[in-house]
Amino acid sequence: MEIKKIGVCGCGLMGAGITEVSAKAGIDVVVCEVNDDFLAKGLARIDKSLSRAVSKGKLDEAGKKAVLDKIKGTTKVEDLADCDLICEAVIENLDEKIKLFQQLDGIVKKEAVFASNTSSLSITEMGAATGRPDQFCGLHFFNPVPVMKLVEVVKTVDTSEAAFAAAKGFGEKVGKVVVSCKDSPGFVVNRLLVPYLLDAIRALQDGVATREDIDNAMKLGCGYPMGPLELTDFVGLDTTYYIAEILFDEFKDHHYAAPPLLKAMVKAGYHGRKAGRGFYDYSKK
Ligand code: CAA
Repeated sequence: MEIKKIGVCGCGLMGAGITEVSAKAGIDVVVCEVNDDFLAKGLARIDKSLSRAVSKGKLDEAGKKAVLDKIKGTTKVEDLADCDLICEAVIENLDEKIKLFQQLDGIVKKEAVFASNTSSLSITEMGAATGRPDQFCGLHFFNPVPVMKLVEVVKTVDTSEAAFAAAKGFGEKVGKVVVSCKDSPGFVVNRLLVPYLLDAIRALQDGVATREDIDNAMKLGCGYPMGPLELTDFVGLDTTYYIAEILFDEFKDHHYAAPPLLKAMVKAGYHGRKAGRGFYDYSKK
């Protein structure tokens, strides 16, 4: 099935990005938020990202308008009824996601594929809670969605070949390179990335080097665009901690155990860039 119209649930950082890349690919998007305020903020985020593309000469004003014309914002899940694909990017809470998918199951057309953008929760559990586990998969995008080239397409034991092919086709249509993987905690990227970030925090905690030297070591020694502490600020210390807890709970492997420094910083509100402070201070930017 070719995906011509998608429903995106949640218009935060990830939902707005998924909406933007889909609309840019000529797909009709209905993006749903819980209230008018969140919806307005999400749509403003998309507008800002498109304006940035215009100012960089990657898009003209007519192109920006054409993208925005493909997007319809709503606060009613009923407006997603005729979508071919639902991509969920709401709060990282399994119960909330399951509740939403169960509601959508009774509203959205039978042949539609359901996907979650979760970074660490069980896709299998979400699918099993609906009446269409065979049409359920993961579509894990990366931040910033308009820039990062990857999408992980996640298959559960129940996902049909047809649904998986439709999700992969969608990922390619929005200009991403698709990596297929099975439903396993952290998929490929976070399974490898999170222990790396935690090890960098452990190195800082043990006084191995300063934050700047740890970041410069990995940027200049390995060619990464951001050092691990800068990247943890970018992802969010709270999000990193949350993912680490899920991975540790699953694997019981010390590589996934959150270091005390991370826990203390999260408790003290050092959540990274979005909070204005993390390993670095962003309050003046
Ligand atoms: N939206 C749209 N475009 C953006 C953007 C955004 N939010 N942020 C940056 N860009 C674009 C810029 O327009 C620019 O494009 P051009 O080169 O064509 O002009 C390009 O990206 C580079 O941007 P900047 O020059 O402003 O800044 P930079 O060179 O420092 O790059 C970065 C910024 C792209 C974020 C880069 O630092 C980077 O790739 N960092 C690593 C990001 C990363 O690892 N993300 C994955 C996090 S893990 C995750 O998301 C999964 C999870 O589950 C936790």
